[in-house]
Amino acid sequence: MVLTREKLTNFIKLSQNENPHGPSPLSVKAVRQMASRLHLYPGKDLEELRNRLAEKNRVSSRNIALSSGSVEMMDIIIKAFTSQDEGIVTSETTFPMYGILSRINGRTCLFSKMDRLGIDIENHIRLCGLKTRVIFVANPNNPTGMIVAHRDVQRLLESTPKNTFVVLDEAYGEYVTDSSYPNALSLLPQFPNLIILRTFSKIYGLAGLRIAYATAEESVVKELEAHRTPFSVTDIAVAAAIAGLDDEEYIRRSALINSKERISLYDALKQLGYDVVPSQANFLLVNFRDASSKEALYRRLLDRSIIVREMEPFGLKNALRISIGTQADNQALLKCLESA
Ligand SMILES: Cc1ncc(COP(=O)(O)O)c(C=O)c1O
Repeated sequence: MVLTREKLTNFIKLSQNENPHGPSPLSVKAVRQMASRLHLYPGKDLEELRNRLAEKNRVSSRNIALSSGSVEMMDIIIKAFTSQDEGIVTSETTFPMYGILSRINGRTCLFSKMDRLGIDIENHIRLCGLKTRVIFVANPNNPTGMIVAHRDVQRLLESTPKNTFVVLDEAYGEYVTDSSYPNALSLLPQFPNLIILRTFSKIYGLAGLRIAYATAEESVVKELEAHRTPFSVTDIAVAAAIAGLDDEEYIRRSALINSKERISLYDALKQLGYDVVPSQANFLLVNFRDASSKEALYRRLLDRSIIVREMEPFGLKNALRISIGTQADNQALLKCLESA
């Protein structure tokens, strides 16, 4: 199967880690079929999607909570499980939403030190205090693409009190090829304070529809569902997600192409002399000598209609994050870098 993408703009967008091939054609078809129902409030039974996800993850549907994107689920977790004087722990260099949502909800978020850009679980453990109620770990981490191995996740869970939730955000989980990546689901029976987040925004190509889910212990799922804003999960998003689950081949191909392109892009960037972080996700972090050399390259790419991500919001002034595009996107990027 050849994955193609409808050209939407003249830009090559390598800035938000979306599936560069777009959604599965089955999801597109499902959305088209829903088009005449847009005047209706969401009324679809969410049980079908929950059942499908339960089957896929080999858990009960009572272990699945749905949300309008995983950012909504993070917000729900903070609202449901922390009170005003309690707080959150995450890493210094990670997905900024954990800190942003903590601030919006008036909670304190502490940021643990990295170990050469890797998440340091021991630093997380040291930072947790009596008032810590939620720990967010992005795995693979955004913006580095590095993973926390199974044994380190297990160590974190073993060291965390039962009244503190460990949230493993596996938004890029489908792209991982490293065998030390956690089998987080296998840890659920032993650790009822574990919440695993997965999203349809990345490999399923449905970022614009906002749909994601958490897998957790039954009583935790009940709390999460109880805190969700009514109607936040729409019928159209549910239909697209179910169709995406039906198209296993599309997801498998997307992952395969990504891992091939990730290797070639990484090698090519290294050959050109760039300092690139080895990644398990659908993006690469490139470090620069200083802010001005980074800025020069960012501008140069933009002049050629290639958008990559600046990393100031992640606390990295001298870095750019480049999403892995289609083969053609990546070739265009390299051509521009080669002539730099
Ligand atoms: C680590 C991580 N989690 C979650 C998300 C967002 O997921 P969603 O679109 O489901 O809210 C992102 C998006 O960039 C991400 O990098």
